[in-house]
Amino acid sequence: MTWLITGGAGYIGAHVARAMAEAGERVLALDDLSAGVPARLPSEVPLVRGSSLDGELLKRVFAEHRVTGVVHLAARKQVAESVAQPTRYYRENVGGLVTLLDAVAGAGIGRFVFSSSAAVYGDPGVDLITEDTPCAPVNPYGETKLAGEWLVRAAGQAHGISTVCLRYFNVAGAAAPELADTGVFNIVPMVFDRLTRDEAPRIFGDDYPTPDGTCVRDYIHVADLAEAHLAAARRLAAGGGTGDLTVNIGRGEGVSVRGLVTVIGEVTGDRRPPLVEERRPGDAPRAVASAARAAAELGWTARRGVREMVESAWGGWLLHRGS
Ligand SMILES: NC(=O)c1ccc[n+]([C@@H]2O[C@H](COP(=O)([O-])OP(=O)(O)OC[C@H]3O[C@@H](n4cnc5c(N)ncnc54)[C@H](O)[C@@H]3O)[C@@H](O)[C@H]2O)c1
Repeated sequence: MTWLITGGAGYIGAHVARAMAEAGERVLALDDLSAGVPARLPSEVPLVRGSSLDGELLKRVFAEHRVTGVVHLAARKQVAESVAQPTRYYRENVGGLVTLLDAVAGAGIGRFVFSSSAAVYGDPGVDLITEDTPCAPVNPYGETKLAGEWLVRAAGQAHGISTVCLRYFNVAGAAAPELADTGVFNIVPMVFDRLTRDEAPRIFGDDYPTPDGTCVRDYIHVADLAEAHLAAARRLAAGGGTGDLTVNIGRGEGVSVRGLVTVIGEVTGDRRPPLVEERRPGDAPRAVASAARAAAELGWTARRGVREMVESAWGGWLLHRGS
């Protein structure tokens, strides 16, 4: 097998590229570098600079490198931006996927892994979210991921492509400081950013119907997430994955925002009390995965805990932001 990883120079893509290469898989990365960093990739992983929206380029890359499987991570991923620019998100995340799947089908590639998100569920109001929990995304980003899954499954059925959709929960941490997420869009870097500015962390709402009143999420270490991609790729390569599979990628354990801020205080040594502000619209009180299907179907279970996520993310933050 030769795997093409789209978005391979991104935060998660580079972890996937590294995990797969270290496990002996042949991989190459495609990235337009709109948010990617080439230095994140190990030297044995070639990088093609270009867009997954460019059908001619995809055709050439598939032929030149004899690609037999695709792991598709390239996408826009900011919820607030998707609310402001929905047409851009549909064009790039859904329209781009149409181009990619056409090229995949045209090249006779039979294996496809798609980066989906817990954002497809919206606010389902259940204790543990299973893959059969109804999907009702609450923003255009989540909509593009759900539409992407439909497209992946339909193209898979029509063209004989075996597919896996991985619904990631809240991704954090880094396998090495240089691989860390450099954006400030998720809660862990947002708290680091506040502390670095000598400001107290902010918590949005502490009157939710949860044990400590703050929102509860399922955090997953990016190194565990990368191993889930390897497991999915291997399942497809072994031929065990004919048809389609959709799986949650989480730990199956909830951590409250306040609990996470406490761990961040312990790791950084900055334990100033958080400021509690108004709830943000669209925040679900609780979003925790059932991780049972991933264990059963992929033989994969997360191994790393929240403290390890925060410690590794902090190492990356200090490297990139200094302090
Ligand atoms: N980070 C999270 O918490 C999270 C959670 C759920 C799902 N996801 C999904 O995981 C995937 C990767 O996310 P990430 O956090 O690594 O983001 P990222 O922005 O670090 O990585 C995306 C990469 O794709 C590249 N890219 C974007 N559009 C491209 C295009 N048209 N052609 C080629 N390259 C392109 C960017 O340059 C970047 O390197 C995305 O699909 C995202 O929606 C992320």
